[in-house]
Amino acid sequence: MPAFAGMTNMFYIGKYLIKSPYLLAPMAGVSEMPFRVIALEMGAGLATTELISAKGIVHQNERTQRYLKHDPKIEYPFSVQLFGGEERSMIEAALYAAKTGAHIIDINMGCPVKKVTKTGAGSALLGDQKRVYSLVKNMTQALGPEIPVTVKVRTGWDSENINCIDLGKVLEDAGCAALAIHGRTRAQGYSGKANWEIIQKLKQSVQIPIIGNGDIATPKDAQKRLQESGCDAVMIGRGALGNPWIFRELAGGLKATPQEKCQIVLRHFEEHLEINLLKAFRSHLAWYSKGIQNSGAFREKIMRLDQKEAVKEAISTFFLEQSQIAENETTDFVDYRQAFG
Ligand SMILES: Cc1cc2nc3c(=O)[nH]c(=O)nc-3n(C[C@H](O)[C@H](O)[C@H](O)COP(=O)(O)O)c2cc1C
Repeated sequence: MPAFAGMTNMFYIGKYLIKSPYLLAPMAGVSEMPFRVIALEMGAGLATTELISAKGIVHQNERTQRYLKHDPKIEYPFSVQLFGGEERSMIEAALYAAKTGAHIIDINMGCPVKKVTKTGAGSALLGDQKRVYSLVKNMTQALGPEIPVTVKVRTGWDSENINCIDLGKVLEDAGCAALAIHGRTRAQGYSGKANWEIIQKLKQSVQIPIIGNGDIATPKDAQKRLQESGCDAVMIGRGALGNPWIFRELAGGLKATPQEKCQIVLRHFEEHLEINLLKAFRSHLAWYSKGIQNSGAFREKIMRLDQKEAVKEAISTFFLEQSQIAENETTDFVDYRQAFG
């Protein structure tokens, strides 16, 4: 083991050293390559792809294959999340993803969406330990030791069937290299609160790295959850929407200025357009502008714009306004202090 293996806040997934315990959660429609790269540059330890259909990969579906696009310079290790209810196609897709550059294969066992669960995929796997064992064991063997298999689960199907501790042991026996857990049941969806007590219990019950997840909104939350749960890492989902700077703050960096935000949003937009539609960026813009003065008017405006240059101009104007507001606030503050000596 390298000397720095014992250093705090670093951990291994298979042979890959993950240098920060703050990870970007996989999010459909959000965790595309441009956003993953930005999060990693800001200091996220890992940024897994959104869930990708194993069948789509096996059937060489063009759109699905595009999800495997990544930036090998920044995305190291590159973690690809697959979903599927059929062991054979899951393994075939995992082998294909590994051939095209994935270093880690993550299996989605948490997605609560009916379209996914009715095929036996996502959180439908939570209740079938035999199938889970077989899938992870056989996938691990097929991929070999160079490509670790990780899993992301929820606490259980519903409040009557919370089984993540047992499942964690099954996964560990099957060769799972790290386990991420969103502290809610499938039935909860996103309601209620994430159950961090059970996440802590899971951490204490297995030897493999545990990545806790759920309701981390601020850097403080992330640090507190990491410390209190004893987890090896925590994953941030909604707290990183329009806020990749959360990872920089966690790495001890400064909060982003409006000018920096503007630069990153424009870059994200340009890169987004290389792989997706303009319309699909509107939700990112809504997140980027959330909580900022005049964001309502900005959101309304961008809903009507469908030309790249007009959107870029709207972004620049909005953030420029913010920097002027920030400057005025600073000036006011100095004046105030002078006035009162
Ligand atoms: C828009 C959105 C899309 C998501 N897509 C995925 C996904 O593709 N795969 C996955 O494992 N979880 C997905 N999730 C769940 C998140 O990874 C995470 O477990 C959940 O949001 C709880 O964490 P949070 O409270 O930090 O947001 C998604 C969540 C959101 C909000």
